[in-house]
Amino acid sequence: MPLFEAVGVRKRFGGVEALRGVDFSVEPGEVVGLMGDNGAGKSTLMKVICGAYRPDEGEIRMAGRPQVFRSPRDAAACGIAVVYQNLGLVDQRSVAANVFLGQEPRRFGLVDTRRMRAEAREVLTTLRIRIPSVRMPVAGLSGGQRQCIAIARAVHQGGELVLLDEPTAALGPEQQQNVLSLIRDLRERGKAVVVVSHNVDHVLEVADRVVVMRGGLVSGMRDVATTTAAEVVGLILGNAPAAAHDGAPHPSGELA
Ligand SMILES: Nc1ncnc2c1ncn2[C@@H]1O[C@H](COP(=O)(O)OP(=O)(O)O)[C@@H](O)[C@H]1O
Ligand SMILES: [Mg+2]
Repeated sequence: MPLFEAVGVRKRFGGVEALRGVDFSVEPGEVVGLMGDNGAGKSTLMKVICGAYRPDEGEIRMAGRPQVFRSPRDAAACGIAVVYQNLGLVDQRSVAANVFLGQEPRRFGLVDTRRMRAEAREVLTTLRIRIPSVRMPVAGLSGGQRQCIAIARAVHQGGELVLLDEPTAALGPEQQQNVLSLIRDLRERGKAVVVVSHNVDHVLEVADRVVVMRGGLVSGMRDVATTTAAEVVGLILGNAPAAAHDGAPHPSGELA
């Protein structure tokens, strides 16, 4: 049974139908790369999944059970965690505080800093995230480290399905690799991940399956094991998938 399913999801903003009947599912422990041109509906779908938007039509199911999310809090209670592009970290606060943000352990009514630091260290070690000290403010961390802290928080706060929006877009090559290996670690720990990305190479590197959206619909799906970058680019551009089978770059491949 899929961990998560969206069935026939529609979402309209005034005159724009951003989602026109989307069927989308994620298996337990699966990494799905969600791709598609700008305006395809990827972010809107992510926001429906994490409870930020309510669909106009269609159903959301978690482990087979229909769910109505009134807010991201409802989705979080169901095990869905989202890391937005801005990460939502508080720069002046420590790494430990950011892992717990809003859910700090308390003792006699006060934040239990000792326990918070110990648990934060444990979370980072488990996810193989290397940070000099959990006491340092996140302002002092690199972009890649910040991304990893935001992901660690999502997992620590109970995420079974973790949604990542362009997690590697703003990073240098080495930090990109750190984030990609963190995504692999999440899968090893049985977490399911949906990663929105424009980077075909990154998706082919970490995902089990690629789902391509176009014009508010899922327009194609491929198992990573049996597809090629050219084929995925062809799907994103809306070309017949057969045209990309020879592996040659597509003549109109502006996205490549
Ligand atoms: N809050 C909104 N209000 C109005 N239109 C929106 C809103 N969010 C998205 N849209 C429109 O819905 C379509 C899909 O957008 P989006 O989900 O952001 O696509 P993507 O993330 O794939 O680039 C676009 O035409 C976009 O302009
Ligand atoms: Mg978007």
